[in-house]
Amino acid sequence: MVKNKYLRPCQCIESIICFVVVQGCDASVLLTGDGSELQLPPNLTLQPRALQLIESIRAQVHAACGPVVSCADITALATRDAVAFSGGQGYDVPLGRLDSLAPAPSSAVFDLPQASSNATTLIDVFQTRNLDNVDLVALSGGHTIGKGHCSSFSNRFSEDSAFVRSLASNCSSDFNRLQDLDVTTPDVFDIKYFTNLQQGKGVFTSDQKLTADWRTEWVVNGFAGNHWWFFGQFAASMTKLGNLQGPQGNVGEIRRNSCFVRNGQSILTTTSDEGLAASA
Ligand SMILES: *[C@@H]1O[C@H](CO)[C@@H](O)[C@H](O)[C@H]1NC(C)=O
Ligand SMILES: *[C@@H]1O[C@H](CO)[C@@H](O)[C@H](O)[C@H]1NC(C)=O
Ligand SMILES: *[C@@H]1O[C@H](CO)[C@@H](O)[C@H](O)[C@H]1NC(C)=O
Repeated sequence: MVKNKYLRPCQCIESIICFVVVQGCDASVLLTGDGSELQLPPNLTLQPRALQLIESIRAQVHAACGPVVSCADITALATRDAVAFSGGQGYDVPLGRLDSLAPAPSSAVFDLPQASSNATTLIDVFQTRNLDNVDLVALSGGHTIGKGHCSSFSNRFSEDSAFVRSLASNCSSDFNRLQDLDVTTPDVFDIKYFTNLQQGKGVFTSDQKLTADWRTEWVVNGFAGNHWWFFGQFAASMTKLGNLQGPQGNVGEIRRNSCFVRNGQSILTTTSDEGLAASA
């Protein structure tokens, strides 16, 4: 349903994995304007075209059915379909979530694990969301498709390895290039992300460090050797992620005019809106 020449599947997956953990999957990340999560540094891999695609799906669904489906549910369903279109397995998406009335507080966004985080930090943050070490490694496996901005891994450029030197050299020729996170099969949902890690070819510190901690390394090795285990666990962990809610529970609304603004606010007031529209 959402297959579209503008959608690279990774973009939806990135948005879910990086952002849903802020306050649950409530589409808070789509809001533009003051305090927008899009204006915070972790947004760099969220592609305006993918955000615009979510909004265009909303417009079509609401034209056909009325304003009965939230941007949050559309984002979650589009993510599932993107995984399936790329060769992964479908999974249950709990529906009925409402769209947030405001962006997540920036303090919460800055609490997210960073691409430069080590395994200890990742484990601790995921635990606060009741996601265990197996969930952590499975969800990291979403990087089997997806891209990263050079600034997300430039912390590694002094490392002494041929792979990191190649990353650094490609960034020095174009710092705004988007680096494939799975350097072997970037557009296919498969276990190559894990076999890459075994060969030291993880792009982010937060990827590669999964092999440097005994609590996660065994899971990396398990997934690398058994794609059925990875596919099944990714599906289970995504369903678990989809059930997370913010501190207030499922409060909000179904955004009726645009996924980028809450109801009752005008659509064309911010430069971010224009940026999103212009690049769509
Ligand atoms: C992402 O955040 C940066 C600042 O960190 C901002 O300049 C940029 O416009 C934001 N991107 C989007 C799509 O809003
Ligand atoms: C992981 O990162 C945290 C925060 O930067 C740091 O305090 C800790 O020492 C690191 N742990 C390891 C094992 O490198
Ligand atoms: C760097 O760019 C070259 C040429 O496009 C490519 O072959 C190589 O795989 C890239 N390195 C990485 C780590 O992606």
